[in-house]
Amino acid sequence: MSRVTLSRFLIEQTRSHNTPADLRFLIEVVARACKAISHQVSKGALGGVLGSLDTENVQGEVQKKLDVISNEILLEANEWAGNLAGMASEEMDKPYQIPGQYPKGAYLLVFDPLDGSSNIDVNVSVGTIFSVLRCPDRQGEEGDLGDEAFLQKGTQQVAAGYAIYGPQTMLVLTLGDGVKGFTLDRELGSFVLTHDNIKVPEATKEFAINMSNQRHWEAPVQRYVSELLAGEEGPLGKNYNMRWIASMVADVHRILTRGGVFMYPRDAREPDKAGKLRLMYEANPMSMIIEQAGGAATNGTQRILDIQPDNLHQRVPVFLGSKEEVLRITAYHKG
Ligand code: AHG
Ligand code: MN
Ligand code: MN
Repeated sequence: MSRVTLSRFLIEQTRSHNTPADLRFLIEVVARACKAISHQVSKGALGGVLGSLDTENVQGEVQKKLDVISNEILLEANEWAGNLAGMASEEMDKPYQIPGQYPKGAYLLVFDPLDGSSNIDVNVSVGTIFSVLRCPDRQGEEGDLGDEAFLQKGTQQVAAGYAIYGPQTMLVLTLGDGVKGFTLDRELGSFVLTHDNIKVPEATKEFAINMSNQRHWEAPVQRYVSELLAGEEGPLGKNYNMRWIASMVADVHRILTRGGVFMYPRDAREPDKAGKLRLMYEANPMSMIIEQAGGAATNGTQRILDIQPDNLHQRVPVFLGSKEEVLRITAYHKG
């Protein structure tokens, strides 16, 4: 049987699901950029791409060389293609304006160019997370496109995905009709469909949280994790295993593969920040993927995709993965 490449899958989607041709082209361009990032990541020390820069991003985090390289690859690949009205990135303070010489399109692209930066220098999986929104009518037609155009609920996303740069490079994608996984065939230079219908198991015995922050957590998270740790003798009646890779892409990829619950709660370290992860660049695209795979994603009290953003860089507590566990921790938050 002939192999289904990402391009062929997208063309078939256009025929069977009326996926607009410009959205198809946009996904192709993002995938091409991810291939280029994968190539840079894999060079490592040989390419001089490891290590940090002297600069900080808008979040006050020190930028890695590869954060900046990946951001530039995504901007350069997408700015001229004619599908976008603008882009927003974790690494940029303000939305990126499509240069005047290029045509503008109907969509907005939002991304975390390199997720899991702390793992780059130690040769552990990192990734790129992206989300596609429609640009509201007439915004940005005259003058600059403002932040407001991007401040849409996650339910408005028309596509979301991530690339993971691990032992294999994969692209995981949803267009709102299930989740597909494509593996990069380096000899062909194409992403090939290898995971046709990704589903998160409803129940799990595996959890992911950075335990070093335990003393800063709020009561519902303290209660839930202590029950997980109590194992068979505790109220949940089973032994759990723990994994924490510290690349959200890699932790979510594991959960999509064999189930699990991922948590990055709000904590008392920085009381004015609602957690570490960012709603627009990380939580929304990952929540769309997880829901499309049959899992759940909340901020403890509310479905993440229903949150109305009020700031491009806003943070949010995240609980996502196997439904049974996400519903349990959400119930504990509600008292
Ligand atoms: P980024 O590298 O894009 O800043 O994101 C890192 C995030 C996420 O990928 C991961 O789950 C989390 O930070 C890890 O945080 P800790 O270092 O606090 O464990
Ligand atoms: Mn990230
Ligand atoms: Mn990042």
